[in-house]
Amino acid sequence: MASDTLNLIEEGSEPSTMKIGFIGSGHIGQTLAKSAIQAGYSVVMSNSRGPETLAGLVQKLGPQAKAATVEEAAKEGEMVVVTVPLYALPQLPATHLAGKTLIDTMNYYPDRDGRIEALDQHTTTTSELTARHFPDAHVVKAFNSIYAAEIETTAKPKGDPDRRTLPIAGDNAAAKKDVTELIESIGFDVYDAGPLHEGFRFQNGTPAYCARANREKLIQLLRQAKE
Ligand SMILES: NC(=O)c1ccc[n+]([C@@H]2O[C@H](COP(=O)([O-])OP(=O)(O)OC[C@H]3O[C@@H](n4cnc5c(N)ncnc54)[C@H](OP(=O)(O)O)[C@@H]3O)[C@@H](O)[C@H]2O)c1
Repeated sequence: MASDTLNLIEEGSEPSTMKIGFIGSGHIGQTLAKSAIQAGYSVVMSNSRGPETLAGLVQKLGPQAKAATVEEAAKEGEMVVVTVPLYALPQLPATHLAGKTLIDTMNYYPDRDGRIEALDQHTTTTSELTARHFPDAHVVKAFNSIYAAEIETTAKPKGDPDRRTLPIAGDNAAAKKDVTELIESIGFDVYDAGPLHEGFRFQNGTPAYCARANREKLIQLLRQAKE
């Protein structure tokens, strides 16, 4: 079924009215914003070049979208998605995020991001680096393990036997609930893989990475990951 015609809001369930701030409006940011809007969220989009460069995107996304600076997206978002290349993480302002749920979609590609010794030595994970950079936010690793286009093309209504399960990891239960609600509302089941550190199980290069799997299969793949 084409994504435009896929109605994922369940009968009897209230669509979310939450506002999501996006730091990064590239492949993942744009696709996730579109799906979130279809599920009832509103979005505040930002990038490195300024809101004026996002005019075309917000026009396409419609009235539930606006363009802003990175600081404004962080401030206005009740939940914030950080979806930039990992090399840009140290440049991002860490203000306006106290107590907020922050979704980290980032993966580590040394050719793109430069060598990060702690990741090469496996003494930490990308999302733990993100949590260190945003110490006041509740970081949840999510959407790092699905190709951007598949956020639309593999979404399915709740109860569909082929509905895909996406993994999340994080240290804060309320934040994981926010992220679970978002993921379920846009067409996927969720598997909570545990604390943020357990995100190593679905980083790029692992068996679970970008697997189109149901819950049972995903659990098997996550178990195969080696730290
Ligand atoms: N593409 C995928 O299928 C996929 C899947 C899973 C995970 N991921 C991961 O998710 C992250 C985003 O991937 P993507 O493919 O969406 O990247 P992308 O298409 O290259 O978009 C990156 C976005 O980040 C913005 N950005 C870069 N530096 C910034 C800064 N200092 N401040 C604010 N915004 C900044 C860019 O803005 P400008 O254009 O203005 O520079 C752009 O909007 C990456 O870490 C990637 O590894 C990607």
